[in-house]
Amino acid sequence: MGGVAGGVAPTLIQLVAFFRGLSEESTMTSIVAVSGSRRADSTTKAALRVALDAAARAGAETELIDLGAVDLPLYHPDEDEQGESDRLKAIVREADGVIAGSPVYRGSYSSTFKNFHDFCGSEEYEYTAVGLLTTAGGGSYGGTLEHLRSTFRNVHAWVVPHEVGIRGASSAIAADGTFRDDSLRDRTERLGRVVVEHAERLPETDP
Ligand SMILES: Cc1cc2nc3c(=O)[nH]c(=O)nc-3n(C[C@H](O)[C@H](O)[C@H](O)COP(=O)(O)O)c2cc1C
Repeated sequence: MGGVAGGVAPTLIQLVAFFRGLSEESTMTSIVAVSGSRRADSTTKAALRVALDAAARAGAETELIDLGAVDLPLYHPDEDEQGESDRLKAIVREADGVIAGSPVYRGSYSSTFKNFHDFCGSEEYEYTAVGLLTTAGGGSYGGTLEHLRSTFRNVHAWVVPHEVGIRGASSAIAADGTFRDDSLRDRTERLGRVVVEHAERLPETDP
């Protein structure tokens, strides 16, 4: 129909279809991934893109926040807006789901991710489904997932049970998102779908 404008008056059916289309657009589930690596060829970012693509195939609108490419100074409690903090907080606040990814640094998550965490609290994460993903140079990522889980629970996020840890990341996944191991790719794609499923079930505010 190309909208309701035109020389001929639209039929009632056309009008209903048009407004239904509009309301479907505005109620699409939105999923945001946040990458806590500053490396241009980050494996974390590559894996998050795979998860986001799966979320998009499940019907969500998606966006990636690459913390290596935004202006976000070290959090200062005496300051209000710092760099792009207000814009980034608004993206998280409006998202239905977040996929949080960080490299393992010293057995925990990166300072870059922690800095982002300090900006966003329960106002941003309440009733938000959150999926977790970590990449490790070595073999251990359990502690990092644990630290992410507990700190996201602290800001009232609904952390989903499915999570992804990628060991030996530099050989497990390329910067273009190609996985060496199909089962790990499947697990990463599943994370995207699971966050969409949970995000769709959560209320916007207190039921
Ligand atoms: C400062 C620093 C600390 C790291 N600490 C660990 C560690 O404790 N355990 C580990 O397995 N890998 C560690 N690594 C390796 C990274 O986890 C690994 O290279 C990861 O895949 C990097 O993610 P990226 O490609 O997204 O930047 C460390 C890397 C850096 C730079």
